[in-house]
Amino acid sequence: MDYVNGPGRNHLFVPGPVNIPDQVIRAMSRNNEDYRSPAIPALTKTLLEDVKQIFKTTSGTPFLFPTTGTGAWESALTNTLSPGDRIVSFLIGQFSLLWIDQQQRLNFNVDVVESEWGQGANLDTLASKLAEDRAHTIKAICIVHNETATGVTNNLATVRKILNQYNHPALLLVDGVSSICALDFRMDEWGVDVALTGSQKALSLPTGIGIVCASPKAIEASKSAKSVRVFFDWKDYLKFYKMGTYWPYTPSIQLLYGLRAALDLLFEEGLDNVIARHNRLATATRLAVDAWGLKNCTQKEEWHSDTVTAVVVPGYIDSSEIVRRAWKRYNLSLGLGLNKVAGKVFRIGHLGNLNELQLLGCLGGVEMVLKDVGYPVKLGSGVAAAAAYLQNTTPLIPSRI
Ligand SMILES: Cc1ncc(COP(=O)(O)O)c(C=O)c1O
Repeated sequence: MDYVNGPGRNHLFVPGPVNIPDQVIRAMSRNNEDYRSPAIPALTKTLLEDVKQIFKTTSGTPFLFPTTGTGAWESALTNTLSPGDRIVSFLIGQFSLLWIDQQQRLNFNVDVVESEWGQGANLDTLASKLAEDRAHTIKAICIVHNETATGVTNNLATVRKILNQYNHPALLLVDGVSSICALDFRMDEWGVDVALTGSQKALSLPTGIGIVCASPKAIEASKSAKSVRVFFDWKDYLKFYKMGTYWPYTPSIQLLYGLRAALDLLFEEGLDNVIARHNRLATATRLAVDAWGLKNCTQKEEWHSDTVTAVVVPGYIDSSEIVRRAWKRYNLSLGLGLNKVAGKVFRIGHLGNLNELQLLGCLGGVEMVLKDVGYPVKLGSGVAAAAAYLQNTTPLIPSRI
């Protein structure tokens, strides 16, 4: 049974997995190949070189693991740290919570810095912890750049500034799963030691590649880190990089060709244009939310996410019902509220391969569902606010100028 089918297209507005461009689907529609033939190493070489651009790094070393974001987390932690190492980690929503759970299960000693869901990481606490830590017992700072559960973006430039202010050598490990390729991300400039993402988010591929990028300092740390690792060991990859064969085990051939096509599309549009497009679609979404008289879960403008908006519903509405009805009635897929905000928010994912008119379709659908569940929305109000903004700001499509 095909659960996604209905007339027309499914409007996929969960914050990952996201819409896959037709060009990428076509690039992946191919047979298996011998990954030991010269073709796959040649392809991999271009991918490893080009993928650095999405992290804005020239000095980083990328790894393409056959995994998801969760595996990429594990790779970042186990390659750079030893059991018992002290970490400072920020809990601001479901994904930072899950990463912290992994850190604890891997036997690191985690200082959890918790904020109310809807707020960003508490960087004053970071500053006071670093100020007190003259003996440099803190080995790493772990932070989720964009908390997908609440639509909160943390300011990484400030994190780096605080680390520099205290001249603290802790590694900076960053989850960029719902930010990289969509939000401004500057690995080298912000001194990020390990950055990571998953293929099903802004790269607009199927799930299945966890991309991890390590700074020279992280690579150095990996030489003495004592955490047990096998599948995710950078050492094995580096050995195969040197040999020019690249893969210690079997990669997904189809995903590699898909990644090639996805990167080509991103570069054709221009990464800065891609980031500007995400800001445009996010701003339009926020204007619609205001026009509906609803609140953004994100409590301050400085934390507003350009990849996902979590919309708070009035207490008499169960947000899960909005998500259920949107899918059943309008073929619109919205994100559920997770954990602490379950039933209280629904999420509009506006990341990846997406354009202005697709977003207007989603906003129109949300309005109809809001009315369905008894919220007194004026049909067209959010769409009008978003369209007015988009009509003023949408540039010509870069490849058509
Ligand atoms: C910010 C963030 N980090 C990590 C993950 C986990 O990634 P995955 O589900 O690919 O393992 C997600 C998933 O949505 C995420 O949004």
